[in-house]
Amino acid sequence: MGVGILGFFLVVSVCFRPLVCQQPNTDGFFVSSFLQNMGLKSSKVHNFSAHFCSWQGVFCDSKEERVVRLVATGLGLSGVVSENTIGKLTMLEILDLSNNNLTALPSDIWSLGSLKFLNLSFNHLSGVLSSNIGNFAKLESLDLSHNNFSGSLPEAMSSLLSLQSLNLSRNGFDSKVPSGIMNCHSLVSLDLSGNKLGDSLHDGFGAAFPKLQFLNLAENEIHGKDSVLSGMVSLTYLNVSGNLFKGSVVGVFGGPLEVVDLSRNQFQGHFSQVNLGSNFSWSNLVYIDLSENQLSGEIFMELNSAQNLKHLNLAYNRFSHQRFPHIGMVRDLEYLNLSSTNLIGEIPSELSLLSSLKTLDISRNHLSSHIPMLNTKKLKILDVSYNNLSGEIPLSLVEILPSMIRFNFSYNNVTFCSSQIPPATLQSAFIGSSDGCPIAANPSLFKGKASKHRGLKLVLALTFSLTFSIVVILLALLFLAFGCRRKPTKWAVKQSSCKEEQSMSGPFSFRTDSTTWVADVKQANSVPVVIFEKPLLNLTFSDLLSATSNFDQGTLLAEGRFGPVYRGYLPGGIHVAVKVLVHGSTMTNQEAARELEYLGRIKHPNLVPLTGYCLAGEQRIAIYDYMENGNLHNLLHDLPLGVQTTEDWSTDTWELQDDSNGIQNVGSEGLLTTWVFRHKIALGTARALAFLHHGCSPPIIHRDVKASSVYLDCSLEPRLSDFGLAKIFGNGLEDEIARGSPGYIPPEFLQPAETSSPKTPTPKSDVYGFGVILFELLTGKKPVGDDYPEEKDGNLVIWVRGLVRKNQGLRAIDPKIHGTAPETQMEEALKIGYLCTADSPSKRPSMQQVVGLLKDIESITKQ
Ligand SMILES: *[C@@H]1O[C@H](CO)[C@@H](O)[C@H](O)[C@H]1NC(C)=O
Ligand SMILES: *[C@@H]1O[C@H](CO)[C@@H](O)[C@H](O)[C@H]1NC(C)=O
Ligand SMILES: *[C@@H]1O[C@H](CO)[C@@H](O)[C@H](O)[C@H]1NC(C)=O
Ligand SMILES: *[C@@H]1O[C@H](CO)[C@@H](O)[C@H](O)[C@H]1NC(C)=O
Ligand SMILES: *[C@@H]1O[C@H](CO)[C@@H](O)[C@H](O)[C@H]1NC(C)=O
Ligand SMILES: *[C@@H]1O[C@H](CO)[C@@H](O)[C@H](O)[C@H]1NC(C)=O
Ligand SMILES: *[C@@H]1O[C@H](CO)[C@@H](O)[C@H](O)[C@H]1NC(C)=O
Repeated sequence: MGVGILGFFLVVSVCFRPLVCQQPNTDGFFVSSFLQNMGLKSSKVHNFSAHFCSWQGVFCDSKEERVVRLVATGLGLSGVVSENTIGKLTMLEILDLSNNNLTALPSDIWSLGSLKFLNLSFNHLSGVLSSNIGNFAKLESLDLSHNNFSGSLPEAMSSLLSLQSLNLSRNGFDSKVPSGIMNCHSLVSLDLSGNKLGDSLHDGFGAAFPKLQFLNLAENEIHGKDSVLSGMVSLTYLNVSGNLFKGSVVGVFGGPLEVVDLSRNQFQGHFSQVNLGSNFSWSNLVYIDLSENQLSGEIFMELNSAQNLKHLNLAYNRFSHQRFPHIGMVRDLEYLNLSSTNLIGEIPSELSLLSSLKTLDISRNHLSSHIPMLNTKKLKILDVSYNNLSGEIPLSLVEILPSMIRFNFSYNNVTFCSSQIPPATLQSAFIGSSDGCPIAANPSLFKGKASKHRGLKLVLALTFSLTFSIVVILLALLFLAFGCRRKPTKWAVKQSSCKEEQSMSGPFSFRTDSTTWVADVKQANSVPVVIFEKPLLNLTFSDLLSATSNFDQGTLLAEGRFGPVYRGYLPGGIHVAVKVLVHGSTMTNQEAARELEYLGRIKHPNLVPLTGYCLAGEQRIAIYDYMENGNLHNLLHDLPLGVQTTEDWSTDTWELQDDSNGIQNVGSEGLLTTWVFRHKIALGTARALAFLHHGCSPPIIHRDVKASSVYLDCSLEPRLSDFGLAKIFGNGLEDEIARGSPGYIPPEFLQPAETSSPKTPTPKSDVYGFGVILFELLTGKKPVGDDYPEEKDGNLVIWVRGLVRKNQGLRAIDPKIHGTAPETQMEEALKIGYLCTADSPSKRPSMQQVVGLLKDIESITKQ
């Protein structure tokens, strides 16, 4: 033991000067000189004082005198290899120096006449390949790939009669493929890819290699007719991608081909003539890429027999207009690329049979109609850009988008909403998508998210404002108990009255305070009411009649700008607000129905869901979930119950269905007297708008953001209503809607008409409206018509902005919420409102940013 350690130190000191440890002119001496010259230090596995045959990678003959095999890959050997090192290992059969940093070879290396296997790949060898390569008559495998060799390949390669594998890829060899190589009849694998080889192959090239299984000539500049490639009867892999081959791909390639890559050449001819040789069978084929050629005709393949095909790329050819090829039988297909192949008509639904499909590119065609259901099990890349597709993206597809690597729906008319996908991703995947109505993602995606947030908020609330929060929670529980549960017994009554009215016939006319409207339907029970989630209910207009007691004043909730809003129960236990859009729409029934169907699919925890609709003569009737807890306008400004004629469908807030226990009007003071709760309303409303603006393509602009459009649902979550309705109205109303409601109209719409072209609403006009709501939540004052100290003829925005500018914002805070949270929080919120109400739309933040800012406020509390 002690001797061993001593010996080790001795060794180190003795070997400090190289070459000392091995006898001169032995193989051990040559190998150690080589390794040490190239920068390798003595180590456990290359202990230069030990016998060389024990070093890692050094293999000797039976007498342990001569090296027959040297494997020194990835050792960081660096620089010029000197003479009198490896060039003297004359018995060497296998030499592998791959993956090092060698820059030049010694001239004596060409004397290694025993070499069978030479691997110098992944080095930095440069210059011309010596003709002395012809000395290696026994060479079976030569790999010089990934170096910097240049110049022409030596004709002397004709001497390499034993060569089975030749890899010269990724170098700078130029000129042409030498005819000498055609002497290497034993070649099984030939890789010349990634060089600068040009000119054409010699006639009979293919026929020279009867044993060749693998041929890669890709990424060169090789010309030539297809025919020079014929005759390779054993070929399974053919890659000539990225060259200048011409010809017609007709019966030229022999062999049982499995992989064929002819992409990026100049192959021509009618596709129907594609026939890859006599030994060829479609059933062997696994991979075929004919993209970026000049093939014409129509795609016609014996695909039914291509049972093993996994990869098919025919993109960018010159096909004539053609229908989508039949491809449903190729069950193992993983990659299908038919980009720019002149496809017309619809995408066939048989695509859904392709259950292994990972990549589908059918971009740049003329495909129309809708996107069919696809098999989404494995789909990771989808490109349908530049077509004429319309309608909604199937929900099953929308659901998997967040887990996909890439998708692109640009330059179509497809529509879509999802809060699961980052806005930037969405934007780049829906470029140039013009008009259309958005649709929503799977609602269940949102539900999970929403409940998580809710839990979080309750925890936060408890940590800072215990007293008030408890009030909030208790109230929430109260309303959950009383507000949301409905007695099913009510049903029986309604349903029976419904039956009586079934025989009623119209036209029906109805009066509210300010409107008379007529539903021109002959038979009330012949006009369907669509309830999206319960299609089997088969409701009709007569059910609406009975639900609202024939649209009786007693069930009137509000007189909105577009018509009256009623409240009622539909069969099936659905408590609804029925909004009659009295004013004429320019849309046809079909268009309006489609529009309403789309709106029905937009789901978000902070949006009032559209439950259904009915087209009754001229009237479009939108049916919404009834919001139990009224709207923000009424709550905030303590308005009395009953019909508000100035506001759009406000509800009679606190009237509980069961008036037995008399818990009436209990909440309007209690609820909104904490900043915590008001902040929650602000954040929820901001989330709804951010979703409409950034989660939908095209973005949905609300156009009428105001306190009375914000409702509280049965779990006291804020929900924004009325999104997307503006579109249902005709052009005449467009202006009025654009202008919004008094007090919420952004300054850009108040400029004199002559000075500016007609204003179109933008997301930034919604941001302004949101800013006003935020000020209302902070100050408890109405946007217009309230008393704003020190401001004559003022309005809320002018007043608060003035105070914020003077750094006196806190004076505007509603006394009711004063002290219910740190002042810094409210000051921050005032600043956000200030930003949102900036005169110039471009200075207002996006709703996405507003959500972030409002969330930050929560964390201020914790400090
Ligand atoms: C090769 O040499 C270069 C410098 O010439 C060095 O940066 C690189 O790390 C070396 N690579 C290896 C594998 O040793
Ligand atoms: C040569 O070495 C490289 C890198 O070590 C390896 O990937 C390659 O397969 C080898 N070539 C042959 C023909 O074995
Ligand atoms: C040739 O070498 C390259 C790496 O330089 C490698 O990718 C390729 O697979 C090799 N070809 C063959 C036939 O082994
Ligand atoms: C053909 O060779 C090129 C260049 O080496 C490569 O990028 C491509 O993937 C190859 N094709 C197939 C099917 O292997
Ligand atoms: C489809 O093929 C074209 C042409 O080769 C190519 O540019 C495009 O990237 C391919 N698409 C996919 C998704 O691979
Ligand atoms: C696009 O598709 C629509 C039907 O979806 C069709 O009416 C229209 O002609 C198509 N346009 C083009 C340019 O193919
Ligand atoms: C979608 O396609 C368009 C048009 O080619 C392109 O500009 C955009 O970058 C693509 N987006 C993605 C996400 O690939």
